[in-house]
Amino acid sequence: MLKDLIRKVNPEHIGLLTAALRSPSAHNAQPWKIKPLPGGHSYEIHYDHNDYLPEDPDDRDAYLTMGAFIETLALEASNFGLKVDVDLKLERSGDDLYIAEVLIEKAAPGSEVDPLSKFISKRVTNRNPYSKEPLSLELEAELKKLGNILIEPRLLKEVVTEASMKSWNNPRFVRDLYVWYRKDLTAPDGFTGPQMRFDILDTLALRFAFWRGQLKSKFVEKLYSTRDVAMFIAAPKAAVLAANDMSPGSLLDAGRRLLRSWVAIAGAGYSCHPFSIAIDEKSTALKVAELTGVPVPVALYRIGKATKQPYGSNRKKLEDVLIN
Ligand SMILES: Cc1cc2nc3c(=O)[nH]c(=O)nc-3n(C[C@H](O)[C@H](O)[C@H](O)COP(=O)(O)O)c2cc1C
Repeated sequence: MLKDLIRKVNPEHIGLLTAALRSPSAHNAQPWKIKPLPGGHSYEIHYDHNDYLPEDPDDRDAYLTMGAFIETLALEASNFGLKVDVDLKLERSGDDLYIAEVLIEKAAPGSEVDPLSKFISKRVTNRNPYSKEPLSLELEAELKKLGNILIEPRLLKEVVTEASMKSWNNPRFVRDLYVWYRKDLTAPDGFTGPQMRFDILDTLALRFAFWRGQLKSKFVEKLYSTRDVAMFIAAPKAAVLAANDMSPGSLLDAGRRLLRSWVAIAGAGYSCHPFSIAIDEKSTALKVAELTGVPVPVALYRIGKATKQPYGSNRKKLEDVLIN
């Protein structure tokens, strides 16, 4: 059955489609599904609602993730001598969200190459501490062009502390972690302890939270939020990505710009680390909007030069994301 599906993929596209699977996704859920269409040139891209994130009730992270996937595919294409045309659909039918039909063609010789394409494979999430070295002016300008507001992380200290403490006390947030936490370091999706830089105390607290459904201890909540926040505010910059509104089209566009921002950061030799809980919590999202002057903030992340390489994240195989 799986073998039959992989036979429907044009052999010239296997390298590109496999490379696109390295795209980032919230909780490394990899909710994309690819349907090869007859003729061997086009594919439908779907979002799988079975991979739905409970702490993402308005599907914000899902649309951002799918936008990032589409952009990764488009950027990777020129690394394979190909080009991708995206026809957005955004049609919902029951559990399924049909995101786009993509047409993959050979790139014309000498055709223009997106300058970010060559940096795409450098993009990873780095959760290690960052040095104080400031961002280059070129990178700052590029991030602003992509719709990010850059801010001193210290100015967000209170709001990220509040968000972090609230999240550990929120059964939906903890359930989300429970669904995607993997003890098996070779699991093809989800996140592992080393990837998140969990120590023994973290793992114990996580198990306790999974057992109770929440942390329910002001002391432990404070301990964990203090650590998260300390790393956040020590970074030289934080970015808040703006969207026009929360409609699927705007969020998908924001996801494409988010991916371009993260690739630009990697290309300039810096790292980034999202801090989504401040936006997931409605009350703190409003405060982020007020503090940054961004009416619709959809992503928050720290940026800087990482002091260490990150522990890698796994991916599903191409045959695991193909559908009929
Ligand atoms: C929309 C979105 C939101 C994310 N939010 C967080 C977050 O709040 N905290 C975090 O540590 N990583 C976050 N991530 C990063 C993912 O966990 C990461 O992309 C995934 O584990 C794959 O790892 P990689 O980015 O190193 O390839 C987010 C990624 C996306 C696309």
